[in-house]
Amino acid sequence: MTWNYSKKTMQLFMDAVHGKPGTHMGEIENADGFGEHGSIACGDALRFTFRVERHPTDPTQDRIVEARYLTFGCTSAIAASEALCALIEEGHFTPIEALKITNQDIANYLDGLPKEKLHCSVMGAEALEAAVFNWAQKRGVDLAALGIDITRKEQEEGRLVCKCFGLTEPYLRRKIVELNLRSIADITHAVKAGGACMSCHHAPGGLQDLLDETWGRQPTTLKQRPEPPLERFVASITGNGLSPYQFAKKVERVLDESVRPQLQQDGGDVEIVDIKDNLVYCRLVGACASCVGATRTLKMMVEQVLKDRVDERIRVIAVDEH
Ligand code: FES
Repeated sequence: MTWNYSKKTMQLFMDAVHGKPGTHMGEIENADGFGEHGSIACGDALRFTFRVERHPTDPTQDRIVEARYLTFGCTSAIAASEALCALIEEGHFTPIEALKITNQDIANYLDGLPKEKLHCSVMGAEALEAAVFNWAQKRGVDLAALGIDITRKEQEEGRLVCKCFGLTEPYLRRKIVELNLRSIADITHAVKAGGACMSCHHAPGGLQDLLDETWGRQPTTLKQRPEPPLERFVASITGNGLSPYQFAKKVERVLDESVRPQLQQDGGDVEIVDIKDNLVYCRLVGACASCVGATRTLKMMVEQVLKDRVDERIRVIAVDEH
């Protein structure tokens, strides 16, 4: 699966993995607000921290002056986390004002996200909520008295609908309405529920039942045309529908378009040494070879771009000079 990311998304991602000044990857020690969302087991996880300038008498007037994130996820998860931090710092918000940032604001900042990647922006908004809740507890701010209900109990309590992603019925019901999710695919794109074993799709009380109860039963749609046997056969051999030659050409083309220009700006480059199945053996050359962040560049930049644009099963293996 390949994704059409906006230029802004790619730029934020590249800047973040290069650790350019002004980017936000990292964690604040003794943060005033700390929140997490997702889990590494599910493939995406975000830890969000912020520091405030404390108001001497009224904690609701604290101002967020620094925001940082650590994320385990794809290009869009990193770019969405950057967008979230930038929006908060640029707005010079109080934590309560920051709650107004929605997943749509994050997607807009990125000039749009592929709909299949919507969950990356949702993850940012959820981690922000968790961090604000944490700040409120530390500063003794009664959010409920201010009419803000983010106790997040619904995520821990209630019937478990999607076991793979640990998502409960009250949480899913809220998200279906809040994000106007109309199909199982919409739910998967937004919060990942239903994106693994799929057993929650049509089980009693499962995702389809929640949709029907929220929006009313929709007329059944025509079944998708089955994949022609030849296409299915080719895809089952190569795993991605490409011959080994086409696969290698595509890897080269994506490196030329999306990776080499960035590395060459810094006086380096990347060479492909070999490709076996989904393993791409690479060597960084020039200034990049001796860079202390070489391994990170290979894993987070080269591998991530190839996963996003060629095949998400690709693994990049670093090969030494000799
Ligand atoms: S139970 Fe929902 S995807 Fe497995």
